[in-house]
Amino acid sequence: MDPRVSVVILAAGLGTRMKSKTAKVLHRAGGLTLVEHVVRTGQAVAASGDIVVITGHQAEKVQQTLSSYGVRFALQAEQKGTGHAVCCAESELPKEGFLVILSGDAPLVSADTVRRLIASQVGSSAAATVLTTRVADPFGYGRILRDDQGNVAAIVEQKAATPDQLKIDEINSGIFCFRAETLWKYIGQISTNNPAGEYYLTDIVEILREQGFQVQPFELPVADELLGINTRVELAEVDRIFRAAKIKQLMLDGVTIERPDTVTIDGDVTVARDTIVESHVRLLGKTHIGEDCQIGAGSVLQNAHLGSGVKVEPYSLIADSRIGSGASVGPFARLRMNNDVGDNVHIGNFVELKNTHMGQGAKAGHLAYLGDASIGPKVNVGAGTITCNYDGVNKHRTVVGEGAFLGSNSTLVAPLEIGAGGYVAAGSVVTDAVPQDALAIGRGRQMNKDGWAKVRRETIKKK
Ligand code: UD1
Ligand code: CA
Repeated sequence: MDPRVSVVILAAGLGTRMKSKTAKVLHRAGGLTLVEHVVRTGQAVAASGDIVVITGHQAEKVQQTLSSYGVRFALQAEQKGTGHAVCCAESELPKEGFLVILSGDAPLVSADTVRRLIASQVGSSAAATVLTTRVADPFGYGRILRDDQGNVAAIVEQKAATPDQLKIDEINSGIFCFRAETLWKYIGQISTNNPAGEYYLTDIVEILREQGFQVQPFELPVADELLGINTRVELAEVDRIFRAAKIKQLMLDGVTIERPDTVTIDGDVTVARDTIVESHVRLLGKTHIGEDCQIGAGSVLQNAHLGSGVKVEPYSLIADSRIGSGASVGPFARLRMNNDVGDNVHIGNFVELKNTHMGQGAKAGHLAYLGDASIGPKVNVGAGTITCNYDGVNKHRTVVGEGAFLGSNSTLVAPLEIGAGGYVAAGSVVTDAVPQDALAIGRGRQMNKDGWAKVRRETIKKK
């Protein structure tokens, strides 16, 4: 049986160098907060109940963000250092097995790397394994001091290092795997005896060695995954890396992406084969797109569910909505929230939908606002049709039966029901229910004055 693994995620700091009122781990890269990436990595190696996130700055927001993950939390009210942070989790975690420390600000580290780190620790007699790498510019990182056997003798922090130590290019990633029992036994010995006056977790290395234990390095040959985020410059770089990886994966899975460097796709988005994503598209949140769709240039889809063969013409916005197979949307359409658009529906340019259901084969080709409406199958919504769904206090529904025809510029004052097969004459203001198969005309009657225009022109000329 695999040994029990628990995880501590350090996420209490504000991240001063972000220059932000938002805690660093709540900033986003690749469509997720940094701490979510790290939690997901943790979940690949440990049960959610064995993962403790150390919170401090904006603790409540961090808990809220992670509420669906089933992880535990420990509050570090005052940030006295990474050693102190780990101590805060002790009462929440098992004493046996192995404990992995992850850093909330290093979201690129892969589950595979953490698994290999654990395997290396499990297979050795060392008390701990430190994930290390070599970087061209080690400034700011803790440096790895090795002993004659190649084990880790100590980690010295930037502020405490001698000029010679500062030249060492092997750095501490901040990610460790400990024998849990040993760590919990000795972690209390970490002191604040250093230039920053903090409890440095990294001091545990020397403490363990004094007790006769060994600490081994696990060195990654490529540093990319260990890139930590301290500034928004690094945040943008990490975001770019996540985006590029996601887009590459989708392309390998059979999605055509034009000008991939201009396209933004969040990590949880799924796109089926043979769909074409044009340039400058953003696919966000939990968007799911079926086969053979085409997503037009400049469109933004957030939590959108598209069936197969959907054509989204350029510059359309679709949020929190479902679109059935074979439907077409846009260009310049806006499906704002909670819409359910049936199969083969056509929504054309400058049409806005909110909280609206459109039955199969219904059409709204141009310039309409349909809010809080239920539009039956095969209804034709004329250009300029508006549902007046708001009376200044409450919202009301408009229900249009199957096959009805709404003439251009219909103004539908809700609450309103239009029976199946009903007609609304163009330009009507409709305030009363329209029976099935009836015609509603609600507008001033037309009157023609013969010759009036000619006379008028001549009068103007004479002046
Ligand atoms: C730390 C390591 C350093 C390593 C680097 C890798 C220590 C003393 N130093 O330095 O060796 O090279 O990470 O990125 O461990 N945190 C808390 N509570 C605290 C302090 C920090 O939760 O009291 C959290 C932060 O929110 C952050 C993580 O721990 O997510 C790392 O803290 P940070 O201050 O960024 O440490 P570094 O100076 O980068
Ligand atoms: Ca850091």
